[in-house]
Amino acid sequence: MDEQTRELPQKYHQAVVHWQQHNFPDYPALVESWDRFFPKDPPFCLCARIGQVASDVVEYGDRKGQPKATKPTDMDERAAKELFNTVKAQASTEFGSIQQHQGTLARAYDDQDRAWVLRVMAEELRHGYQMVHLITNEDWSAVSGEKADDTVEHILSSQTGSHYFAAFNLEFDSFLDNIMFAAFIDRVGKYQLTMQKVSAYRPYAESMPPMLREEAFHLAAGVMPLRRWVERAAKGDPLVTMAAMQKAANKWFSRGLEMFGFEKEPFSSAQVNLGLKDRTNADAQQQWIDECAQMLGDLSRRYVRARLPGNTPEEIDAIQQRLAAGETVEGIAPEEMLRLPDRRFFRRSFDGAYEMVGIGGETFADVDAYVAHLAGHLPEAYLASRDMRHYIDNLRKVVAGAMTVKQAVKNTPKLQRLGSTCPCSNSVRWVMDTGATSVGEESRLHP
Ligand SMILES: [Fe+2]
Ligand SMILES: [Fe+2]
Repeated sequence: MDEQTRELPQKYHQAVVHWQQHNFPDYPALVESWDRFFPKDPPFCLCARIGQVASDVVEYGDRKGQPKATKPTDMDERAAKELFNTVKAQASTEFGSIQQHQGTLARAYDDQDRAWVLRVMAEELRHGYQMVHLITNEDWSAVSGEKADDTVEHILSSQTGSHYFAAFNLEFDSFLDNIMFAAFIDRVGKYQLTMQKVSAYRPYAESMPPMLREEAFHLAAGVMPLRRWVERAAKGDPLVTMAAMQKAANKWFSRGLEMFGFEKEPFSSAQVNLGLKDRTNADAQQQWIDECAQMLGDLSRRYVRARLPGNTPEEIDAIQQRLAAGETVEGIAPEEMLRLPDRRFFRRSFDGAYEMVGIGGETFADVDAYVAHLAGHLPEAYLASRDMRHYIDNLRKVVAGAMTVKQAVKNTPKLQRLGSTCPCSNSVRWVMDTGATSVGEESRLHP
């Protein structure tokens, strides 16, 4: 494994560490957990990892065959702009997911589940660090029109509610969200990173292999506890039910779909033409859907097996088929099987935004009937949230003709707090000039 590690210049490194102290206070606990839960793995390193690229030349799009860019100014302007926005959006997901996980981390079922999520969070911090490295290691100002300090400031000042993707603006309601999020949303991350292994910008392509190795662990941090939970549900544990897992899956599936953008052309293949990705959004989205369906099928199968021990694999196959066809088999109801909602269910951006489509693809004409349908298929703790309130307010306006779908998509609440963002003091920025001796410097030092 030929890989190099890099540390950020002091002021950016300190800014990330400072961010961690505020947003990820459990980070130091990882060191204690590491030897107990991950004795065979090398210790965690908060650094950028530079891996290998499969090709020195651009593999897709209009510049195919030309050497990969090593500086933003080597790229065509559109590709550079697109990539800069992608790196910022990627950074937002990395830091954003830590803020979400932190909210319910302490509710983990046991020490192992907690340690696994803790490791996921630390690795997301490293991915965020990697994105800051990409932004600060070369001069992007000609592309972005802003200074690196301001870009980093913006990234570190985002909160749950002001991130780029809706999936990162939802609070977790319980520890079930920590693992369902890893199973669904980190899986989107896996696809996005895989697509960009071919990136025409070499430093970005080199960042992908180490991140993808970590992403595989994140998926396991979601799927492994879910496997244990379906087995508990099968044994009749009243605290863990298939219905609760289905509702949590319904909450995250539509938000994950939206991270692929428009399925339509030319949007879907724009990044392929720029040499930044190896497949269209629509193709990647379909592969992600298929993989999610397979995961839920596998979990349902484990549930049936645990409910009906003694059946052969062929018999379990046959039972699963009958259940999928809507039949009740040996006391197992078809609703106990986990399945994906329709892809137009509960959408609020891109394809299907603000259409009232039910879990099974049925359409609704009446808002109240649709709200009642949502209430029956989403986690109870999520229903009374600010997020749901905003969505339903928008939906009512769209249906009444008081707002267009486009306006509704844009009208999402933002908790924007720019500038003086560090909660230590009103005057402190995350990125501080090292060696500065301005008035008030004393009060800027973090405890
Ligand atoms: Fe990540
Ligand atoms: Fe991840």
